[in-house]
Amino acid sequence: MKYNIIPNTDLKVSSIALGTWAMGNDFWGNVDDKESIKAIHSSLDTGVNFIDTAPVYGAGHAETVVAKAIKDRRDKVIVATKAGVIRTKTEYRRDLSPKQLQKDMEESLRRLNTDCIDLYYIHWPDVTTPLEDSINTLEKFKKQGKFRYLAVSNFSVELMQQAQEMTDIVCLQPNYSILNRKIEKEIIPYCEQQNLGVISYGTLAGGLLTGKFKSIPKFTEGDNRGRFYDYYHQDIWQNIQGLLACLGKIAQKHCCTVAQTAIAWTVQQKGITSVLVGAKNNNQALDNATAAEILLSDSECLEIEAYLKQWLSKVVY
Ligand SMILES: NC(=O)c1ccc[n+]([C@@H]2O[C@H](COP(=O)([O-])OP(=O)(O)OC[C@H]3O[C@@H](n4cnc5c(N)ncnc54)[C@H](OP(=O)(O)O)[C@@H]3O)[C@@H](O)[C@H]2O)c1
Repeated sequence: MKYNIIPNTDLKVSSIALGTWAMGNDFWGNVDDKESIKAIHSSLDTGVNFIDTAPVYGAGHAETVVAKAIKDRRDKVIVATKAGVIRTKTEYRRDLSPKQLQKDMEESLRRLNTDCIDLYYIHWPDVTTPLEDSINTLEKFKKQGKFRYLAVSNFSVELMQQAQEMTDIVCLQPNYSILNRKIEKEIIPYCEQQNLGVISYGTLAGGLLTGKFKSIPKFTEGDNRGRFYDYYHQDIWQNIQGLLACLGKIAQKHCCTVAQTAIAWTVQQKGITSVLVGAKNNNQALDNATAAEILLSDSECLEIEAYLKQWLSKVVY
């Protein structure tokens, strides 16, 4: 495993981090807690030291599972969680009001069974609350020792600038993968210039970049990933299969899986501090964590780039 420091912190995080959205067991179909705990343990045993969760993943369930899994090694794990998204029966709603932040903070500390969260993100922007009110509340929590470093997720350059006028943030968590490179234009250069870390999510595009879906999958009830990752439709499917074939050839040369190739590509990109990958079981966790050993050559990266430019440019850039 390789490790990178999130700038301006003492957090030395693994270049591959474990995402726990699916472990919330309410958006990605049925996920067994015992399997989730095994996945967390295998990840940690393979060198992952960075776990990402959020109150909204299973209305707190993912945080509870993380706490159970790390209870005898809390000091060896860098735990990141988030605030400001609520799941109602029908939708996800953003709420960065001081009242909601207070609730999220208290409940995350309790569920994670910790006195202090290592990295605390604003999960999504909320246009209904003045950013200043949210930041003032978060600053208060930081002074009280409830979390160590503040970060933001899904923020534009403009919003990061506004936040930085009021407080210190240390990194951004954006959507970024071979299939979504939109942040390369402005956001990554801004983060580099400002010395902000980039912890990317969606590395496998919800499992698609493992190459396991040969036709458009019909996900089981309760598995809503197709609503979040907009790739599972006919007009781009053949071109995505072409990309997966291209990744498959590269994977063969490295004796690794397509998933590992997609993860390795993301880890290698300029400005990326750590990449989040979700896993539902031991095998996936091992496959993903060991991708850190793979280094794609320049010509392999160019091959991928050429395919994307020719066949998927409207989707990717
Ligand atoms: N800040 C945000 O707004 C935001 C948004 C999204 C995600 N995130 C974070 O980023 C993390 C990762 O992103 P993600 O969970 O959306 O998706 P992802 O990592 O792109 O995909 C994860 C899913 O792919 C499948 N998978 C993973 N490894 C595999 C392997 N080696 N072989 C075969 N299948 C494999 C699993 O589902 P199946 O087995 O069911 O296919 C798994 O649940 C999340 O858990 C969360 O912590 C943050």
